Amino acid sequence: MIAIGCDHAGYKLKEFLINALSEKGYEFKDMGCNGERCDYPNIAESVCKEIKSGNCDKGILICGTGIGMSIAANKIKGIRASLCSDSYSTKYTRLHNDANVMCMGARVIASGLAEELAEIFLTTNFEGGRHQQRIDLITNLENN
Ligand code: RB5
Repeated sequence: MIAIGCDHAGYKLKEFLINALSEKGYEFKDMGCNGERCDYPNIAESVCKEIKSGNCDKGILICGTGIGMSIAANKIKGIRASLCSDSYSTKYTRLHNDANVMCMGARVIASGLAEELAEIFLTTNFEGGRHQQRIDLITNLENN
């Protein structure tokens, strides 16, 4: 299950992704918004809570740039959120950073690219090994 959320700027892209990816078998828990004006940190919090509680494995957050969502999500312990706008970074943030949330900017990337990036994010596994040590160091940063 994938938690997904957006603010008003990301609403259309969120709806597009839910429709396109549901047809391919992905399941979503939609944490809003429903198109109304809202504050992106609240939506980031709702999506990240679903991951922390174990209800969802990964999250997708969409705002105008993707930046506000990524700043907010990365304030939450245990969340590694990456702003994704190209396929290389999207692939490697899973392989090397074990990112559990992807953020995208609806005013930055087109819907077709967003769909492709989401599929890369959702199907690429963390490599572990030496990268796990670095994730552990990030966790230390959170705790100190
Ligand atoms: C909303 O206008 C916009 O500020 C928001 O969607 C996002 O881009 C913030 O980072």
